Amino acid sequence: MEINEQTVRALVQRSHRGPKDLTLTTDHHRPTPGPDEYLVRVGVAGVNFADVMQSHGTYGGGPRAPYVAGFEAAGEIVGGGAGVDRPLPVGTHVVGAGRGAFAQYMTMPAAGVLPVPSGWSAAQALGLVLNWATALAALKPLGEIRTGEVVLVHAAAGGVGQAAVRLARHYGARVVATASPAKHDTVTALGADEVLDSRRADLAAEIMRLTGGVDLVLESVGRATFEVSLSVTKPFVGRVVVFGAASGDASLNTYDLVFTHQVQVMGLHIGALATAAPSVYASLLVELETLIADGVYPPGSPQVHPLADGPAVLRDLEAGLTRGKHALDPWR
Ligand SMILES: NC(=O)c1ccc[n+]([C@@H]2O[C@H](COP(=O)([O-])OP(=O)(O)OC[C@H]3O[C@@H](n4cnc5c(N)ncnc54)[C@H](OP(=O)(O)O)[C@@H]3O)[C@@H](O)[C@H]2O)c1
Repeated sequence: MEINEQTVRALVQRSHRGPKDLTLTTDHHRPTPGPDEYLVRVGVAGVNFADVMQSHGTYGGGPRAPYVAGFEAAGEIVGGGAGVDRPLPVGTHVVGAGRGAFAQYMTMPAAGVLPVPSGWSAAQALGLVLNWATALAALKPLGEIRTGEVVLVHAAAGGVGQAAVRLARHYGARVVATASPAKHDTVTALGADEVLDSRRADLAAEIMRLTGGVDLVLESVGRATFEVSLSVTKPFVGRVVVFGAASGDASLNTYDLVFTHQVQVMGLHIGALATAAPSVYASLLVELETLIADGVYPPGSPQVHPLADGPAVLRDLEAGLTRGKHALDPWR
């Protein structure tokens, strides 16, 4: 396939001072795929909380500024580097993760790329490898969710949170969700049994009053909710899966685990899981395929913004002003 663009539009992060130093450039050089990578013409790029963290330089293992921002995209394979095992043909529409997604072209490690589900658009496929795979990993292989259990999902109106609420209900759990009050209608519509304001002072007492104790917590807010999560989890049998800290980091020490919160705490990073436990990750992908076929996982409906609006979208995500999935179109 002939590609005309040698220079492309991209959002470049120029410092670690946050989204305010994310700027649009029109003369970024189109990347060249390395070994085991595809070159992808980005149709639409997904916005994730990880982008906010990375803009502050706090995402573990992330690049140092300046760099082209963005982690996730869906688009069309237009080329490939050497050594890709059983390569997908040029022209295949894929969704995946890699560096530099907020641009018209990016490279993606071939191992992390999935075909866009049949009949879905690029935008509808966003969220598959980050939001849904993360929510599923937290609930199933790590959280070992069981029918009838009580599951607490924080930031339930967000990208991962919405997937988690749908999945937890599908697996037969009673879902207690937290979100900002302005987003409660969204979470209720997804089927959550109770929706609480994550910032209310008596959050732990209210969860205990409603449930008597929680079996599984999906913890992604960190400092603002971690103590509540630990205190409402059933001792010994309860599990807390930690996969984010949108409000900042919280800490837990050996004394806490021995004398105060005798709960099972697990960490999750979906990229690390794919690398360190490939068979577990492969089982997630098989399950996601089934969930799509069964309609449990519907096509996504992200709000798509022009690329130049990326800094404002990241600022809103950081401030907790967004709900659901947001995306950037690098061609407008
Ligand atoms: N470990 C992994 O592999 C992995 C993968 C994907 C995502 N994640 C993590 O999962 C979480 C959700 O990611 P997402 O992209 O779907 O983002 P998101 O949930 O759409 O956005 C973050 C949400 O966190 C909530 N929040 C609560 N307290 C906050 C505070 N003090 N400051 C800012 N936000 C606060 C806000 O919801 P309310 O306004 O409703 O409170 C906000 O909308 C993030 O922590 C992210 O880092 C981890």
